[in-house]
Amino acid sequence: MKRKPLISQKEFASRREQLMHMIGDNAVAIVPSSSLLIRNRDAEFPFRQDSDFLYLTGFNEPEAIAFFIPNREQGEYILFCRERDPKAEQWVGRRAGIEGAQKQWGADDAFPIDDIDDILPGLLEERSAVYYNTGNDVNFDQQVMSWINTVKNKVRSGVHAPQEFISLPLILHDMRLYKSPAELRAMRYAAKTAVAAHENAMRACKPGMMEYELEAEYLYQFKKAGMEPAYTSIVGGGENGCILHYIENNQPLKDGELVLIDAGAEYLGYASDITRTFPVNGTFSEAQRSLYQIVLNAQKAGIAAAKPGNTWDQPHTAALRVLVEGLVEVGILSGDIDTLIEDKSYAPYYMHKTGHWLGLDVHDVGDYKVDDEWRLLEPGMTLTVEPGLYISPADEIDEKWWNIGIRIEDDVLITKKGNEVLTRKLIKEVKDIEAHMAQ
Ligand code: GLY
Ligand code: MN
Ligand code: MN
Repeated sequence: MKRKPLISQKEFASRREQLMHMIGDNAVAIVPSSSLLIRNRDAEFPFRQDSDFLYLTGFNEPEAIAFFIPNREQGEYILFCRERDPKAEQWVGRRAGIEGAQKQWGADDAFPIDDIDDILPGLLEERSAVYYNTGNDVNFDQQVMSWINTVKNKVRSGVHAPQEFISLPLILHDMRLYKSPAELRAMRYAAKTAVAAHENAMRACKPGMMEYELEAEYLYQFKKAGMEPAYTSIVGGGENGCILHYIENNQPLKDGELVLIDAGAEYLGYASDITRTFPVNGTFSEAQRSLYQIVLNAQKAGIAAAKPGNTWDQPHTAALRVLVEGLVEVGILSGDIDTLIEDKSYAPYYMHKTGHWLGLDVHDVGDYKVDDEWRLLEPGMTLTVEPGLYISPADEIDEKWWNIGIRIEDDVLITKKGNEVLTRKLIKEVKDIEAHMAQ
């Protein structure tokens, strides 16, 4: 089997080093893992690690806390985690344990998570600032405060407790915004799997199928590649394609309607996020084709504007203009293009932005504005470009457009020269879709 991309321990170590360099020698940083979540009664959802924690540690267990303490002689990266426990492990699965945390996962020191209240306060002494994701989880906020209070209670021994609490995302999420070559290999692999899965679903589609049957076609491909869906995916036939976050996926797919699939695979935590819209019976009607072509032209304009030196907002404004021009051309809107844009007259048919950052989270972290200005796009950033049109029934609109919902979404890496569309191999031209579905 071909070797699959991996993130090396060296890369995790260099991310930690960079983080510690940025917070400085007077500070510490604390990053908790995700917790297991109950689905119902005593059954749990599959575990998904917190993306910040995963980014810094690669450690994929719950009940763990990573602690970073720059320039501590005995070691700067401390991992609190579950101890080995053969009995528990026979029931609920293997654990790295204290030794594994150090040997396999590169912790300088590791301690049982159950001992954290005894150990962690001592590590806070004489540090002035604590970086963590403040206000994200009230229970964790309380836990941090209780560690701080333990240090404060030693004030008469001359010990100083940290006085400053700084939002870790401020720096960590900026790091996550720029993808490394290894991260891009993972994202390309997730994209490639999702492309093949979408193609498969498109080919399998027939009138009379249920939306979930189409869902099964691509989920099968994700699983076969050892991947999970990066988010709860959407299969919306006809009017369901106009519901932006439709996830029931339980209606029949009807002859003559379009179907919208928004589904991406996740590899090593890295998401792909693809939407394609195609005719259930394999042939676009005239009305579907003309709206589809508008969205496709808008998407191409958006992708062309996704290049270094442009701002975050430029792909959106480029795509939006093409959408509005198209809506005027087909008679759904009328008037001056600039005025229609300024007045947001398009909003009943296009009510979302044209994309988002993509990475360990499908809607990835990173600021979209810096100092109140749209951020400049830079090489290494990854984002989606996903314009759409959604025409709900309304008196003022010709019936032929009703219930047409279309979105086309690709994943784009900003490069030095422009961009690379990570999902470019997935067909989207009308003629290519019709030819593929006729096979
Ligand atoms: N699949 C979520 C999104 O497209 O943003
Ligand atoms: Mn998206
Ligand atoms: Mn999507």
